[in-house]
Amino acid sequence: MKIAVIGGDGTGPEVAAEGLKVLEAIAALEKFKYELTPFDFGGDRYLRTGEILPTGAVDELRMFDAIYLGAVGHPEVPPGVLEKGLLLELRFQLDQYINLRPVQLFPGVETPLTGKGPDDINFVVVRENTEDLYCGVGGFLKKNTPDEVASQTAVYTRKDCERCIRWAFEFTRRRNNPKKMLTLVAKTNVLTYGHDLWWRTFQDVAREYPEIKADYNHVDACCMWMVKNPEYYDVIVTTNMFGDIITDLGGILQGGMGVAAGANLNPDAGGTSMFEPMGGSAPKYTGQHVINPIAAINAMAMLLEHTGQPRAGKRIIEAIKTVTGTKMKSQAAGKMGYSTQQVGDLVVQALS
Ligand code: IPM
Ligand code: MN
Repeated sequence: MKIAVIGGDGTGPEVAAEGLKVLEAIAALEKFKYELTPFDFGGDRYLRTGEILPTGAVDELRMFDAIYLGAVGHPEVPPGVLEKGLLLELRFQLDQYINLRPVQLFPGVETPLTGKGPDDINFVVVRENTEDLYCGVGGFLKKNTPDEVASQTAVYTRKDCERCIRWAFEFTRRRNNPKKMLTLVAKTNVLTYGHDLWWRTFQDVAREYPEIKADYNHVDACCMWMVKNPEYYDVIVTTNMFGDIITDLGGILQGGMGVAAGANLNPDAGGTSMFEPMGGSAPKYTGQHVINPIAAINAMAMLLEHTGQPRAGKRIIEAIKTVTGTKMKSQAAGKMGYSTQQVGDLVVQALS
């Protein structure tokens, strides 16, 4: 397995190092081989060279089985530059049309929802990852005048929405949760063109999966249910922008940015997928060894699960559960009761 490693900015390299430590341990236990290639993309390189992704970088990354990303975001780089130039650019160029965000509360992890535990908070959001308001269609007219007009257009294609919805049905089938339910989350009562396309496509594809309950929630109602009855959900499929918003809500339900991870998948043959912890680069904690690596280790589990080593991925998740359930005091930076490296060591110990 060939893995490109982009440690990135701030605490990104620190948490990625713990994910790689766990990879080394599980590869020995499960007897598989891998090869790592580091890339120094991120804020520092950009400030030094003015380049975010040098010419040819995307084609180079295409040759890998997976990309493992620490974090992007640098205090001296204006907001949006690295996000657009690195993260979104890779998602688009590598056609990673699925953004997979498990919302799973691990044992021992605190959730803001009173009375809810690991059995209640365990669902997965399948977020479309290449279209919608993220496509960059729009512009200004009469910029910086009192008559200024700005437009930002959501674009949806039948082809992309269909492949995303079909993947979500397949995923729901594989997940095989007793609920066997896929909920489309959209806003068909207002977005009567774009989300009408999603709705019709969802109905069409649902016919191919009669054993799966095809469910629908408006996005605003979904936000209420996620807080009130998170146990209702099995798998959610949704559009890019709504998916971005509800997955942060999901992230906090599962204990926050120190825990939550995501996968940007190109599930097609030969596609390159990218795996990342959800937390940012947390510049103020850089070098202090207090940041929580569980999210990055969780991202490594997802990498293995989706890149041909599912048993290794599952073993890592079980080890994470042991560590959060029996060792860590908190998931917050500086309050874990252990350093970043010690948490990585605990996960390695729990593997064997
Ligand atoms: C995410 C992030 C990104 C997004 C940002 C950093 C561009 O919030 O992965 O959810 O909006 O997709
Ligand atoms: Mn987000």
